[in-house]
Amino acid sequence: MQSFSLIQPDDWHLHLRDGDALAAPVPASARQFARAIVMPNLKPPVTAVAEALAYRARILEAVPVGSSFEPLMTLYLTESTPVSEVARVAAEPSVHAFKLYPAGATTHSEAGVARIDRIFPVLEAMAYHRVPLLVHGEVVDSEVDIFDRETVFIDTQLAPLVLRFPGLPIVLEHITTEQAVAFVRSAPPNVAATITAHHLLYNRNAMLAGGIRPHYYCLPVLKREQHRRALVAAATSGDEKFFLGTDSAPHGISQKEKFCGCAGCFTAHAAIEFYASVFEAAGRLDKLEAFASLNGPKFYRLPVNSSRIRLVKSDWRIPGQYPFADEAVVPLMAGESLGWRFDGPEA
Ligand code: NCD
Ligand code: ZN
Repeated sequence: MQSFSLIQPDDWHLHLRDGDALAAPVPASARQFARAIVMPNLKPPVTAVAEALAYRARILEAVPVGSSFEPLMTLYLTESTPVSEVARVAAEPSVHAFKLYPAGATTHSEAGVARIDRIFPVLEAMAYHRVPLLVHGEVVDSEVDIFDRETVFIDTQLAPLVLRFPGLPIVLEHITTEQAVAFVRSAPPNVAATITAHHLLYNRNAMLAGGIRPHYYCLPVLKREQHRRALVAAATSGDEKFFLGTDSAPHGISQKEKFCGCAGCFTAHAAIEFYASVFEAAGRLDKLEAFASLNGPKFYRLPVNSSRIRLVKSDWRIPGQYPFADEAVVPLMAGESLGWRFDGPEA
């Protein structure tokens, strides 16, 4: 196949940052995606509808003229999120979900939830209003090995939560293990998962073998090959529980290449091409549209996009850096060649 078109995709998990740092990530996502679920882990976090609407307005200012990119906003759950905020979210068409960060799990998660039972009343209200709960599924216990943190979270936190709140729509974000795939597959239909491009493309050797590569460090951390294969099988299966979420999370070079570097991979610059390469290698390009453009809207009860985009088979070299705030960000696959190229909207 030399080229193909698909319904314009959406990104169901994205970090756009704020202030000067918005200027590069927003156009990168708006180029390919019609909509994106925007993560609320700013400093300070976006915890109320009014803050989300103000953040949305700042994002829209960074959207290039002529693009109709729509940021779908989320709120950051804290132990002091008032139950009344849930009804406000349910009534606000621009705000779509709450994000649960276990306190200390990842970048800017200090304000997150240390004890999940403290937010049960909020979760009750979310189940009632059918407002989705987006979950960073890792325990933070220092006794638990970092490669096991997702699996331990599923067993000790998520499985009981799914039983306790049967009507609550839940997205286990950026899954990385065969255990997460199996859990989501066997869970009821209100439980789904996003999968990133980097977890489909790479195992942990990409980050650690032959030298340490900080631009491949993200959370949850890359896992063994057997897990990558399970993710590819899930994403390319057509199962509507799995959909595209890049978790594109830019950090300036100075924050990545340092004594204690930040977690996050910038992937928005070539997101749909990364996914197309994975689906092609699996012989399942025919399933890309379900994963990228159909399953997400179905879960979020939003219309499928009417626009289409085209991808062409053509080698291009990914730049070594892109501008980011007052410095630069090193994108995933910096300086490497990619076999698919996003060719823009279909005429
Ligand atoms: C994200 C970030 O930098 O905001 N980092 C990451 O490694 N994915 C936070 C997150 O989603 O965990
Ligand atoms: Zn994220």
